[in-house]
Amino acid sequence: PAGSAQLMSRPALHYTATNTWLNDPNGLVYNQGVYHLFYQNNPFDNVWGNMSWGHATSEDLLHWTEHPVAIACDEQEDVFSGSVVVDEDNTSGLGTLENPPLVAIYTSAFKEGSGLQGTQAQSLAFSTDSGMTWQKYAGNPVLNRGSAHFRDPKVFRHEGSDGAFWVMVAVEAQHQQVVLYRSDDLKAWEYLSTFGPANATGGEWECPDLFPLPVDGDPDHVKWILVVNINPGAVAGGSGGQYFVGHFDGVRFIADTDSLVQASADGTVNLPDCLWLDWGRDYYAAVSFSNAPNNRRIMIGWMNNWDYANSLPTQPWRSSMSLAREVELTTINGLPRLVQRPVLSPGFGRNIHTVQDMEVGSSPLALPDFDTAQVIDADILPGTARVVSLTLFGATRLSFDAATHQLTLDRRNSGHTTFHEKFASTESAPVVLEDGILRLQVIVDHGSVEVFAQGGKVALTDLVFPGPGSVGTELSAEGGTATVRKLTVSAVS
Ligand code: FRU
Repeated sequence: PAGSAQLMSRPALHYTATNTWLNDPNGLVYNQGVYHLFYQNNPFDNVWGNMSWGHATSEDLLHWTEHPVAIACDEQEDVFSGSVVVDEDNTSGLGTLENPPLVAIYTSAFKEGSGLQGTQAQSLAFSTDSGMTWQKYAGNPVLNRGSAHFRDPKVFRHEGSDGAFWVMVAVEAQHQQVVLYRSDDLKAWEYLSTFGPANATGGEWECPDLFPLPVDGDPDHVKWILVVNINPGAVAGGSGGQYFVGHFDGVRFIADTDSLVQASADGTVNLPDCLWLDWGRDYYAAVSFSNAPNNRRIMIGWMNNWDYANSLPTQPWRSSMSLAREVELTTINGLPRLVQRPVLSPGFGRNIHTVQDMEVGSSPLALPDFDTAQVIDADILPGTARVVSLTLFGATRLSFDAATHQLTLDRRNSGHTTFHEKFASTESAPVVLEDGILRLQVIVDHGSVEVFAQGGKVALTDLVFPGPGSVGTELSAEGGTATVRKLTVSAVS
Protein backbone atom coordinates (compact mmCIF):
# COMPACT_ATOMS: atom_id res chain seq x y z
CA PRO A 1 0.00 0.00 0.00
CA ALA A 2 1.24 3.44 -0.94
CA GLY A 3 0.78 4.85 2.59
CA SER A 4 3.15 2.42 4.26
CA ALA A 5 5.56 2.58 1.35
CA GLN A 6 6.40 6.11 2.37
CA LEU A 7 7.58 4.86 5.74
CA MET A 8 10.44 2.88 4.29
CA SER A 9 13.89 4.30 4.72
CA ARG A 10 16.44 4.16 1.98
CA PRO A 11 19.26 1.65 2.54
CA ALA A 12 22.37 3.26 4.03
CA LEU A 13 24.93 0.87 2.52
CA HIS A 14 23.24 -0.52 -0.55
CA TYR A 15 23.06 1.35 -3.82
CA THR A 16 19.64 2.56 -4.95
CA ALA A 17 18.82 4.84 -7.87
CA THR A 18 17.47 8.07 -6.37
CA ASN A 19 14.04 8.14 -7.99
CA THR A 20 13.82 5.18 -10.29
CA TRP A 21 13.86 1.43 -10.87
CA LEU A 22 16.95 -0.72 -11.20
CA ASN A 23 17.71 -4.37 -11.85
CA ASP A 24 20.89 -6.20 -12.93
CA PRO A 25 24.34 -4.71 -12.34
CA ASN A 26 25.91 -4.14 -15.77
CA GLY A 27 29.35 -3.27 -17.03
CA LEU A 28 31.07 -3.51 -13.65
CA VAL A 29 34.54 -2.14 -14.33
CA TYR A 30 37.39 -0.61 -12.37
CA ASN A 31 39.26 2.08 -14.23
CA GLN A 32 41.68 4.79 -13.08
CA GLY A 33 40.88 4.42 -9.39
CA VAL A 34 37.11 4.37 -9.86
CA TYR A 35 34.60 1.52 -9.64
CA HIS A 36 31.83 1.93 -12.18
CA LEU A 37 28.44 0.38 -11.57
CA PHE A 38 26.20 0.53 -14.62
CA TYR A 39 22.83 -1.09 -14.17
CA GLN A 40 19.52 -1.93 -15.78
CA ASN A 41 17.47 1.19 -15.18
CA ASN A 42 14.10 2.63 -16.10
CA PRO A 43 14.90 6.36 -16.30
CA PHE A 44 11.21 7.28 -16.26
CA ASP A 45 9.59 5.10 -13.61
CA ASN A 46 10.11 2.79 -10.65
CA VAL A 47 8.95 -0.40 -12.30
CA TRP A 48 10.72 -2.41 -15.03
CA GLY A 49 10.60 -0.87 -18.51
CA ASN A 50 12.42 1.48 -20.92
CA MET A 51 15.57 -0.46 -20.20
CA SER A 52 18.67 1.71 -20.27
CA TRP A 53 21.99 1.66 -18.44
CA GLY A 54 22.04 3.80 -15.32
CA HIS A 55 25.42 4.75 -13.88
CA ALA A 56 27.04 5.21 -10.48
CA THR A 57 30.67 5.41 -9.34
CA SER A 58 32.53 4.71 -6.12
CA GLU A 59 36.05 4.61 -4.79
CA ASP A 60 35.36 2.21 -1.91
CA LEU A 61 32.42 0.12 -3.16
CA LEU A 62 30.31 1.44 -0.26
CA HIS A 63 29.57 5.05 -1.09
CA TRP A 64 28.16 5.62 -4.57
CA THR A 65 27.52 8.72 -6.64
CA GLU A 66 24.74 8.58 -9.21
CA HIS A 67 25.39 9.95 -12.71
CA PRO A 68 23.14 10.60 -15.70
CA VAL A 69 21.90 7.62 -17.74
CA ALA A 70 24.88 6.20 -19.63
CA ILE A 71 23.30 4.24 -22.48
CA ALA A 72 19.67 5.00 -23.22
CA CYS A 73 16.91 3.03 -24.90
CA ASP A 74 15.59 4.55 -28.12
CA GLU A 75 12.94 3.84 -30.76
CA GLN A 76 14.86 0.86 -32.06
CA GLU A 77 15.91 -0.94 -28.93
CA ASP A 78 15.87 -1.48 -25.21
CA VAL A 79 19.37 -1.70 -23.77
CA PHE A 80 19.58 -4.97 -21.83
CA SER A 81 22.37 -6.35 -19.65
CA GLY A 82 26.03 -6.64 -20.61
CA SER A 83 29.57 -5.78 -19.63
CA VAL A 84 32.30 -3.19 -20.09
CA VAL A 85 35.95 -3.76 -20.98
CA VAL A 86 38.91 -1.40 -20.97
CA ASP A 87 40.22 -1.73 -24.53
CA GLU A 88 43.81 -1.00 -23.51
CA ASP A 89 45.28 -1.64 -27.01
CA ASN A 90 42.42 0.09 -28.82
CA THR A 91 41.70 -3.17 -30.65
CA SER A 92 38.25 -1.84 -31.52
CA GLY A 93 39.59 1.38 -33.02
CA LEU A 94 36.87 3.20 -31.06
CA GLY A 95 39.44 5.29 -29.18
CA THR A 96 43.16 5.85 -29.55
CA LEU A 97 46.24 4.19 -28.09
CA GLU A 98 46.85 7.32 -26.02
CA ASN A 99 43.27 7.35 -24.82
CA PRO A 100 42.00 3.77 -24.86
CA PRO A 101 38.21 3.49 -24.99
CA LEU A 102 35.89 1.79 -22.55
CA VAL A 103 33.69 -0.47 -24.63
CA ALA A 104 30.28 -1.68 -23.47
CA ILE A 105 28.94 -4.89 -24.96
CA TYR A 106 25.19 -4.96 -24.33
CA THR A 107 22.10 -6.73 -25.56
CA SER A 108 19.91 -4.88 -28.01
CA ALA A 109 16.34 -6.00 -27.39
CA PHE A 110 14.90 -4.85 -30.70
CA LYS A 111 11.50 -3.18 -30.82
CA GLU A 112 8.73 -3.02 -33.32
CA GLY A 113 9.68 -0.90 -36.33
CA SER A 114 13.39 -1.61 -35.95
CA GLY A 115 13.35 -4.26 -38.66
CA LEU A 116 14.69 -6.76 -36.13
CA GLN A 117 11.65 -6.82 -33.88
CA GLY A 118 11.78 -9.53 -31.22
CA THR A 119 15.46 -10.29 -31.79
CA GLN A 120 18.07 -10.08 -29.06
CA ALA A 121 21.57 -9.44 -30.41
CA GLN A 122 24.81 -8.00 -29.06
CA SER A 123 25.82 -4.38 -29.63
CA LEU A 124 28.58 -1.97 -28.67
CA ALA A 125 28.76 1.48 -27.13
CA PHE A 126 31.97 3.28 -26.29
CA SER A 127 33.30 6.04 -24.08
CA THR A 128 36.47 8.05 -24.43
CA ASP A 129 35.94 10.12 -21.29
CA SER A 130 36.41 7.42 -18.63
CA GLY A 131 32.86 6.15 -18.81
CA MET A 132 31.01 9.41 -18.24
CA THR A 133 29.41 9.70 -21.70
CA TRP A 134 28.69 6.96 -24.22
CA GLN A 135 28.01 6.65 -27.90
CA LYS A 136 26.40 3.68 -29.61
CA TYR A 137 28.53 2.09 -32.34
CA ALA A 138 27.19 2.73 -35.86
CA GLY A 139 27.67 -0.91 -36.94
CA ASN A 140 25.30 -2.39 -34.33
CA PRO A 141 24.39 -5.13 -33.76
CA VAL A 142 27.80 -6.79 -33.95
CA LEU A 143 26.60 -10.31 -33.16
CA ASN A 144 23.17 -11.50 -34.24
CA ARG A 145 22.24 -15.15 -34.38
CA GLY A 146 18.60 -14.52 -35.11
CA SER A 147 17.55 -15.55 -31.61
CA ALA A 148 14.87 -14.01 -29.42
CA HIS A 149 16.64 -15.03 -26.19
CA PHE A 150 20.37 -14.46 -26.82
CA ARG A 151 21.58 -12.00 -24.21
CA ASP A 152 23.72 -10.75 -21.31
CA PRO A 153 27.24 -10.78 -22.86
CA LYS A 154 30.15 -10.79 -20.42
CA VAL A 155 33.44 -10.11 -22.23
CA PHE A 156 36.99 -10.57 -20.95
CA ARG A 157 40.50 -10.55 -22.39
CA HIS A 158 42.08 -13.98 -22.59
CA GLU A 159 45.77 -14.84 -23.02
CA GLY A 160 45.61 -17.89 -25.26
CA SER A 161 48.51 -19.95 -26.62
CA ASP A 162 48.02 -18.02 -29.89
CA GLY A 163 48.08 -14.59 -28.24
CA ALA A 164 45.46 -12.46 -26.54
CA PHE A 165 41.86 -12.23 -27.72
CA TRP A 166 38.42 -11.27 -26.41
CA VAL A 167 36.04 -13.94 -25.15
CA MET A 168 32.30 -13.43 -24.79
CA VAL A 169 30.05 -15.60 -22.64
CA ALA A 170 26.34 -15.01 -23.20
CA VAL A 171 23.18 -17.09 -22.83
CA GLU A 172 20.59 -18.75 -24.96
CA ALA A 173 18.28 -18.17 -22.04
CA GLN A 174 15.47 -20.58 -22.86
CA HIS A 175 17.80 -23.41 -23.81
CA GLN A 176 19.71 -23.19 -20.50
CA GLN A 177 22.91 -22.74 -22.45
CA VAL A 178 25.96 -20.54 -22.18
CA VAL A 179 27.46 -19.74 -25.59
CA LEU A 180 31.08 -18.66 -26.05
CA TYR A 181 32.49 -16.48 -28.84
CA ARG A 182 35.88 -14.92 -29.57
CA SER A 183 36.98 -11.71 -31.25
CA ASP A 184 40.09 -9.68 -32.02
CA ASP A 185 38.36 -6.31 -32.24
CA LEU A 186 35.07 -6.65 -30.31
CA LYS A 187 33.25 -6.18 -33.62
CA ALA A 188 33.66 -9.49 -35.47
CA TRP A 189 32.79 -12.54 -33.38
CA GLU A 190 33.52 -16.19 -34.06
CA TYR A 191 31.57 -19.00 -32.39
CA LEU A 192 33.57 -21.18 -29.99
CA SER A 193 31.36 -23.54 -28.01
CA THR A 194 28.23 -24.14 -25.94
CA PHE A 195 27.93 -25.22 -22.30
CA GLY A 196 24.76 -26.66 -20.80
CA PRO A 197 22.09 -27.47 -19.92
CA ALA A 198 23.50 -28.64 -16.59
CA ASN A 199 22.56 -28.58 -12.90
CA ALA A 200 19.74 -26.14 -12.16
CA THR A 201 17.64 -25.87 -15.33
CA GLY A 202 14.20 -25.01 -14.01
CA GLY A 203 14.18 -21.52 -15.51
CA GLU A 204 15.92 -19.23 -17.99
CA TRP A 205 19.67 -18.96 -17.77
CA GLU A 206 20.71 -15.31 -17.55
CA CYS A 207 23.73 -13.10 -16.84
CA PRO A 208 26.67 -15.53 -17.07
CA ASP A 209 30.25 -14.82 -16.03
CA LEU A 210 33.51 -16.74 -16.51
CA PHE A 211 36.74 -16.03 -14.64
CA PRO A 212 39.85 -17.75 -13.26
CA LEU A 213 40.70 -17.94 -9.57
CA PRO A 214 43.67 -19.49 -7.78
CA VAL A 215 42.78 -22.35 -5.42
CA ASP A 216 43.77 -21.44 -1.85
CA GLY A 217 45.73 -18.50 -3.27
CA ASP A 218 48.15 -20.76 -5.21
CA PRO A 219 48.92 -19.09 -8.57
CA ASP A 220 50.03 -22.46 -9.97
CA HIS A 221 46.66 -24.02 -9.27
CA VAL A 222 44.03 -22.07 -11.13
CA LYS A 223 40.42 -23.10 -11.73
CA TRP A 224 37.76 -21.38 -13.81
CA ILE A 225 34.39 -20.43 -12.41
CA LEU A 226 31.33 -20.24 -14.64
CA VAL A 227 28.53 -18.29 -12.99
CA VAL A 228 25.03 -18.85 -14.35
CA ASN A 229 22.08 -16.96 -12.95
CA ILE A 230 18.73 -18.67 -13.23
CA ASN A 231 15.14 -17.45 -13.05
CA PRO A 232 12.99 -19.08 -11.85
CA GLY A 233 14.29 -22.37 -10.44
CA ALA A 234 16.85 -21.20 -7.89
CA VAL A 235 17.34 -22.90 -4.54
CA ALA A 236 15.07 -20.60 -2.50
CA GLY A 237 12.50 -20.15 -5.27
CA GLY A 238 12.48 -17.69 -8.16
CA SER A 239 15.76 -15.98 -9.05
CA GLY A 240 19.24 -16.97 -7.90
CA GLY A 241 22.78 -17.77 -8.97
CA GLN A 242 24.60 -21.07 -9.44
CA TYR A 243 28.20 -21.70 -10.41
CA PHE A 244 30.36 -24.42 -11.88
CA VAL A 245 34.03 -25.10 -11.18
CA GLY A 246 36.14 -26.27 -14.10
CA HIS A 247 38.60 -25.46 -16.81
CA PHE A 248 38.58 -23.08 -19.78
CA ASP A 249 40.91 -24.03 -22.64
CA GLY A 250 40.33 -20.97 -24.82
CA VAL A 251 37.47 -22.66 -26.65
CA ARG A 252 35.41 -24.63 -24.19
CA PHE A 253 34.45 -24.55 -20.51
CA ILE A 254 34.66 -28.06 -19.08
CA ALA A 255 33.06 -28.48 -15.67
CA ASP A 256 34.78 -30.68 -13.10
CA THR A 257 32.57 -33.73 -12.60
CA ASP A 258 32.41 -32.98 -8.89
CA SER A 259 30.65 -29.70 -9.65
CA LEU A 260 28.01 -31.44 -11.78
CA VAL A 261 24.92 -32.93 -10.22
CA GLN A 262 23.62 -36.28 -11.44
CA ALA A 263 20.09 -35.91 -12.72
CA SER A 264 17.57 -38.46 -11.54
CA ALA A 265 15.75 -40.73 -13.98
CA ASP A 266 13.00 -38.16 -14.60
CA GLY A 267 15.59 -35.51 -15.46
CA THR A 268 15.24 -33.47 -12.27
CA VAL A 269 18.24 -32.55 -10.16
CA ASN A 270 18.44 -32.26 -6.43
CA LEU A 271 18.61 -28.49 -6.10
CA PRO A 272 20.59 -28.29 -2.83
CA ASP A 273 23.37 -30.25 -4.52
CA CYS A 274 23.99 -27.50 -7.09
CA LEU A 275 26.62 -24.94 -6.18
CA TRP A 276 24.71 -21.84 -5.10
CA LEU A 277 26.15 -18.38 -4.77
CA ASP A 278 23.54 -17.56 -2.16
CA TRP A 279 20.81 -19.51 -0.38
CA GLY A 280 18.45 -16.58 0.12
CA ARG A 281 15.70 -15.11 -2.03
CA ASP A 282 17.44 -11.91 -3.04
CA TYR A 283 20.79 -12.23 -4.75
CA TYR A 284 20.41 -12.30 -8.51
CA ALA A 285 22.19 -11.43 -11.76
CA ALA A 286 25.49 -11.42 -9.88
CA VAL A 287 28.53 -10.74 -12.05
CA SER A 288 32.09 -9.61 -11.40
CA PHE A 289 34.12 -6.47 -12.04
CA SER A 290 36.50 -6.30 -14.97
CA ASN A 291 40.01 -5.12 -14.09
CA ALA A 292 39.59 -5.01 -10.32
CA PRO A 293 42.93 -4.13 -8.71
CA ASN A 294 45.35 -6.79 -7.38
CA ASN A 295 43.55 -9.56 -9.27
CA ARG A 296 40.71 -9.38 -6.81
CA ARG A 297 37.42 -10.86 -7.99
CA ILE A 298 34.58 -8.71 -6.76
CA MET A 299 30.95 -9.36 -7.52
CA ILE A 300 27.72 -7.44 -7.06
CA GLY A 301 24.23 -8.88 -7.37
CA TRP A 302 20.81 -7.34 -7.70
CA MET A 303 19.22 -7.71 -4.26
CA ASN A 304 15.84 -8.82 -5.48
CA ASN A 305 13.81 -11.62 -7.00
CA TRP A 306 11.68 -11.50 -10.13
CA ASP A 307 8.94 -13.27 -8.14
CA TYR A 308 7.92 -9.92 -6.60
CA ALA A 309 10.48 -7.34 -7.78
CA ASN A 310 7.99 -4.87 -9.22
CA SER A 311 5.92 -4.85 -6.02
CA LEU A 312 8.48 -3.89 -3.35
CA PRO A 313 6.92 -1.35 -0.96
CA THR A 314 9.40 1.49 -1.44
CA GLN A 315 9.33 4.80 -3.24
CA PRO A 316 10.37 6.81 -5.10
CA TRP A 317 13.13 4.25 -5.72
CA ARG A 318 12.59 0.54 -6.14
CA SER A 319 15.30 -2.12 -5.71
CA SER A 320 18.89 -2.02 -4.58
CA MET A 321 22.19 -3.73 -5.24
CA SER A 322 23.84 -6.16 -2.83
CA LEU A 323 27.02 -5.15 -1.11
CA ALA A 324 30.12 -5.86 -3.19
CA ARG A 325 31.50 -9.31 -2.37
CA GLU A 326 35.04 -10.48 -2.79
CA VAL A 327 35.09 -14.10 -3.94
CA GLU A 328 37.91 -16.59 -3.50
CA LEU A 329 38.35 -20.31 -4.13
CA THR A 330 39.01 -22.39 -1.04
CA THR A 331 39.34 -26.13 -0.61
CA ILE A 332 36.33 -27.35 1.35
CA ASN A 333 36.05 -31.10 1.97
CA GLY A 334 38.76 -31.60 -0.64
CA LEU A 335 36.98 -29.59 -3.37
CA PRO A 336 37.50 -26.02 -4.57
CA ARG A 337 34.47 -23.93 -3.63
CA LEU A 338 33.67 -20.23 -3.60
CA VAL A 339 33.95 -18.25 -0.41
CA GLN A 340 32.39 -14.77 -0.39
CA ARG A 341 33.03 -11.86 1.92
CA PRO A 342 31.40 -8.46 1.82
CA VAL A 343 33.83 -5.68 0.97
CA LEU A 344 33.87 -3.52 4.10
CA SER A 345 36.86 -1.22 4.11
CA PRO A 346 39.09 -1.12 7.20
CA GLY A 347 37.96 1.36 9.81
CA PHE A 348 34.48 1.07 8.43
CA GLY A 349 31.69 1.40 11.00
CA ARG A 350 31.82 2.33 14.65
CA ASN A 351 31.74 -0.33 17.33
CA ILE A 352 28.65 0.16 19.50
CA HIS A 353 28.57 -3.11 21.40
CA THR A 354 30.87 -5.97 22.39
CA VAL A 355 30.05 -9.20 24.17
CA GLN A 356 32.71 -11.66 25.24
CA ASP A 357 32.49 -15.16 26.68
CA MET A 358 28.91 -14.97 27.80
CA GLU A 359 26.51 -17.83 28.35
CA VAL A 360 23.03 -17.53 26.93
CA GLY A 361 20.35 -19.75 28.41
CA SER A 362 16.68 -19.30 28.96
CA SER A 363 16.77 -15.50 29.04
CA PRO A 364 17.75 -13.81 25.77
CA LEU A 365 20.71 -11.48 25.38
CA ALA A 366 19.54 -8.03 24.31
CA LEU A 367 21.56 -6.29 21.64
CA PRO A 368 21.45 -2.66 20.44
CA ASP A 369 18.31 -1.78 18.54
CA PHE A 370 18.53 -1.17 14.85
CA ASP A 371 18.91 2.48 14.04
CA THR A 372 21.05 2.65 10.95
CA ALA A 373 22.96 -0.06 9.09
CA GLN A 374 24.70 -2.54 11.38
CA VAL A 375 27.29 -5.24 11.01
CA ILE A 376 26.97 -8.01 13.60
CA ASP A 377 29.92 -10.38 13.92
CA ALA A 378 29.42 -13.35 16.21
CA ASP A 379 31.32 -16.49 17.16
CA ILE A 380 28.94 -18.78 19.01
CA LEU A 381 29.34 -22.21 20.58
CA PRO A 382 25.87 -23.76 20.40
CA GLY A 383 26.86 -26.02 23.32
CA THR A 384 23.83 -27.86 24.63
CA ALA A 385 21.30 -25.58 22.93
CA ARG A 386 19.00 -27.15 20.38
CA VAL A 387 18.49 -23.88 18.54
CA VAL A 388 20.42 -20.62 18.68
CA SER A 389 18.71 -17.63 17.18
CA LEU A 390 19.27 -14.01 16.43
CA THR A 391 16.09 -11.98 16.26
CA LEU A 392 16.22 -8.80 14.18
CA PHE A 393 13.56 -6.10 13.89
CA GLY A 394 11.51 -7.84 16.59
CA ALA A 395 10.42 -10.74 14.43
CA THR A 396 12.85 -11.55 11.64
CA ARG A 397 14.56 -14.67 12.85
CA LEU A 398 17.94 -16.13 11.92
CA SER A 399 18.36 -19.48 13.62
CA PHE A 400 20.77 -22.37 13.69
CA ASP A 401 19.42 -25.83 14.43
CA ALA A 402 22.11 -27.95 16.09
CA ALA A 403 20.44 -31.22 15.09
CA THR A 404 19.95 -30.51 11.39
CA HIS A 405 22.85 -28.05 10.97
CA GLN A 406 20.52 -25.78 9.01
CA LEU A 407 20.81 -22.03 9.21
CA THR A 408 17.37 -20.56 8.57
CA LEU A 409 16.20 -17.03 7.92
CA ASP A 410 12.50 -16.61 8.59
CA ARG A 411 10.92 -13.41 7.31
CA ARG A 412 7.31 -14.54 7.55
CA ASN A 413 6.69 -12.04 10.37
CA SER A 414 9.26 -9.49 9.29
CA GLY A 415 6.85 -6.56 8.93
CA HIS A 416 5.45 -5.65 5.50
CA THR A 417 5.08 -8.99 3.77
CA THR A 418 1.67 -8.87 2.13
CA PHE A 419 2.59 -6.66 -0.84
CA HIS A 420 3.12 -9.88 -2.78
CA GLU A 421 1.91 -13.40 -2.03
CA LYS A 422 5.35 -14.86 -2.73
CA PHE A 423 7.26 -12.62 -0.33
CA ALA A 424 6.67 -14.22 3.09
CA SER A 425 9.18 -17.07 3.24
CA THR A 426 11.84 -19.01 5.13
CA GLU A 427 15.19 -19.90 3.62
CA SER A 428 17.68 -22.49 4.85
CA ALA A 429 21.29 -23.36 4.16
CA PRO A 430 23.44 -26.23 5.45
CA VAL A 431 26.26 -25.04 7.72
CA VAL A 432 29.21 -27.09 8.96
CA LEU A 433 30.56 -25.86 12.30
CA GLU A 434 34.32 -25.54 12.70
CA ASP A 435 35.66 -26.54 16.15
CA GLY A 436 32.03 -26.48 17.22
CA ILE A 437 31.75 -22.77 16.43
CA LEU A 438 29.04 -21.02 14.46
CA ARG A 439 30.61 -17.94 12.88
CA LEU A 440 28.21 -15.34 11.59
CA GLN A 441 28.56 -11.99 9.93
CA VAL A 442 25.19 -10.33 9.47
CA ILE A 443 24.75 -7.05 7.66
CA VAL A 444 21.47 -5.42 8.48
CA ASP A 445 20.34 -2.39 6.53
CA HIS A 446 17.05 -0.64 5.88
CA GLY A 447 15.31 -3.29 3.82
CA SER A 448 17.73 -6.20 3.90
CA VAL A 449 19.63 -8.86 5.83
CA GLU A 450 22.78 -10.40 4.33
CA VAL A 451 24.22 -13.36 6.21
CA PHE A 452 27.72 -14.75 5.75
CA ALA A 453 28.39 -17.90 7.76
CA GLN A 454 31.68 -19.67 8.48
CA GLY A 455 33.83 -16.94 6.96
CA GLY A 456 31.73 -16.69 3.81
CA LYS A 457 31.37 -20.38 2.94
CA VAL A 458 27.62 -19.85 3.07
CA ALA A 459 25.81 -16.67 2.03
CA LEU A 460 22.11 -16.00 2.52
CA THR A 461 20.50 -12.74 1.44
CA ASP A 462 16.92 -11.65 2.00
CA LEU A 463 14.99 -8.42 1.75
CA VAL A 464 12.94 -7.48 4.82
CA PHE A 465 10.63 -4.51 5.31
CA PRO A 466 10.01 -4.03 9.03
CA GLY A 467 6.82 -2.29 10.04
CA PRO A 468 6.59 0.64 12.48
CA GLY A 469 6.46 -1.70 15.51
CA SER A 470 9.24 -4.01 14.35
CA VAL A 471 11.98 -3.35 16.91
CA GLY A 472 14.25 -5.42 19.10
CA THR A 473 17.45 -7.34 18.50
CA GLU A 474 18.35 -10.28 20.70
CA LEU A 475 20.20 -13.53 20.80
CA SER A 476 18.58 -16.54 22.40
CA ALA A 477 19.15 -20.22 23.00
CA GLU A 478 16.48 -22.88 23.25
CA GLY A 479 16.72 -26.24 24.95
CA GLY A 480 20.12 -25.65 26.55
CA THR A 481 22.94 -23.16 26.96
CA ALA A 482 25.06 -21.58 24.21
CA THR A 483 28.20 -19.51 24.68
CA VAL A 484 28.88 -16.30 22.84
CA ARG A 485 32.65 -16.37 22.41
CA LYS A 486 32.68 -12.93 20.92
CA LEU A 487 30.07 -10.67 19.42
CA THR A 488 30.45 -7.15 18.11
CA VAL A 489 27.95 -4.74 16.63
CA SER A 490 29.17 -1.90 14.42
CA ALA A 491 26.93 0.86 13.20
CA VAL A 492 27.31 2.77 9.98
CA SER A 493 25.52 5.99 9.18
C1 FRU B 1 17.93 -10.52 -15.79
C2 FRU B 1 17.42 -9.94 -17.10
C3 FRU B 1 18.44 -10.12 -18.19
C4 FRU B 1 18.08 -9.03 -19.15
C5 FRU B 1 17.65 -7.92 -18.22
C6 FRU B 1 16.57 -7.05 -18.76
O1 FRU B 1 17.33 -9.97 -14.66
O2 FRU B 1 16.19 -10.56 -17.45
O3 FRU B 1 18.47 -11.41 -18.77
O4 FRU B 1 19.16 -8.65 -19.95
O5 FRU B 1 17.21 -8.54 -17.03
O6 FRU B 1 16.30 -5.98 -17.89
